[in-house]
Amino acid sequence: MHENTKAITDLILKVREKSRQETGNEPAPEMPKPIQWPIQCLVGPGLEGAIACESKVGYVNGAKGWLVYRGYDVFDLCAYSTFEEVSYLLLYGQLPGNSQLKAFKEKMVKYRSIPSTIRLLANFPVATMNTMSALSFGASLMKQELFSQKQDNYRFENGRTISADEDSIPMETRPRGEEHAIYEFNRLDKTKESAEGLYPGADYESSLRLIAGVASVAGAVARLKQGNLPIDSDPNLSHAANLIYMITGKYPTAVQERIMDIALILHADHGINASTFATLVVASTLSDIYFAVGSGIAALNGPLHGGANEQVLHMLKNIGGSDRVDSWYENARAKKEKIMGFGHRVYKAYDPRARILGPLAEYLIKENDDPEVKQLFDVALALEKKVIATLGVEKKIFPNVDFYSGIVYSSLGIPVELFTPIFAVSRVSGWVSRVMEYLEHNRIFRPRAMYSGSFNAEYLPIEKRT
Ligand code: SDX
Repeated sequence: MHENTKAITDLILKVREKSRQETGNEPAPEMPKPIQWPIQCLVGPGLEGAIACESKVGYVNGAKGWLVYRGYDVFDLCAYSTFEEVSYLLLYGQLPGNSQLKAFKEKMVKYRSIPSTIRLLANFPVATMNTMSALSFGASLMKQELFSQKQDNYRFENGRTISADEDSIPMETRPRGEEHAIYEFNRLDKTKESAEGLYPGADYESSLRLIAGVASVAGAVARLKQGNLPIDSDPNLSHAANLIYMITGKYPTAVQERIMDIALILHADHGINASTFATLVVASTLSDIYFAVGSGIAALNGPLHGGANEQVLHMLKNIGGSDRVDSWYENARAKKEKIMGFGHRVYKAYDPRARILGPLAEYLIKENDDPEVKQLFDVALALEKKVIATLGVEKKIFPNVDFYSGIVYSSLGIPVELFTPIFAVSRVSGWVSRVMEYLEHNRIFRPRAMYSGSFNAEYLPIEKRT
């Protein structure tokens, strides 16, 4: 293990001990037992408190500040595991053995390279699109590409030769038009409708394609937003290293790769949060897992949810200096504004993810002393202190996962508009894992509303209406 990456493991274990000391006297959670449906629960607006399903994928204890994936404490997974192992764990329910991890990684290499899908995406005005809408669109194009490949096979069945080795062209040297293309293929015979319909529902292979491919779509969106050509994934790099490489065009250091890998582990799953719920709702209609993930991406975009990480950076820049935190804070509170990166529906303790991301941000800043990021971090520390001393006491409001993640990503050279897409790149593992689990005992989501409107209204023609 690289000397510095060992220092990161030690940092995580130290933070774990601090967390356990600080929350040790919080009430121990009642141990889960099999649910006998139907059950009673106290439900507030926004389904607050509602139990939507039973799950073994992950558990969040808001009082203790615990985050557990398939029984494993997230602190241990960050200290010792990788995003590939954790994605396998979430999806299949246990950590992989050597041969299983090797096969999983081979699938990731294969499904991360989607140049023809990226070419389709590059034909759209991604540079002027919201990054999350481009990401959601790219996820749907992955499905379309698969579908058209089915038609490709249809072409093969017709004995038509396709000498296309377009997929071997590095994305930087896109063919300059048909006459220069080193491939040629016969036009699809449009007169024959393919017998295939859209794939129904969800399956593990689609889940693997999405875990691998959403990272490549995020990389392509980043490059196209910067006015560059997308870069195909490098088969020799890990998922975390490929994500940095496909976004920035640079190979990360061992420390940068390790910290991105930990950030991906931390964001992978988090109970039935809004984007996971959106994904499950769409999947429960037996729609399509690519569309379901697209819905999760759309929900994650909101500033109350995954979009907060980008808003935090704008907020810290807007504050401008740690000496301005107090006046800024008083002003924000006077206007009853929500402080981005703080508060949580479940955590009434310090979010364990923020406990790790804060020190990682500090570690990275020491490594690459970028004055601008250093200043943002100083503002963040001052704001954290201020909020904990006020809202933390009054309302148990503490930093959440989004408060420090943006500083970590900035230190890794990631542009701010890619922060929320990176959240989705990680969370797609939790989304597809919960979809596959839920579909085992599927029941379409259909909650109710309390109707408080009127009855027996008399219909009046328009000329008689006031
Ligand atoms: C994520 O659910 C998940 O697990 C989400 C997530 C995941 O991994 O999937 O953890 C990721 O979305 C993290 C949250 C990122 N969002 C933000 O940082 C945006 C700022 N946070 C808030 O909008 C808010 O805290 C929420 C949306 C996160 C939670 O909101 P709740 O549970 O609906 O809480 P609430 O709005 O009912 O607030 C309760 C009280 C209110 O005061 P009163 O009206 O009772 O006087 O706390 C106050 C709120 O005004 N409050 C805040 C605050 N968050 C809550 N006050 C100031 N700043 C805040 N950030």
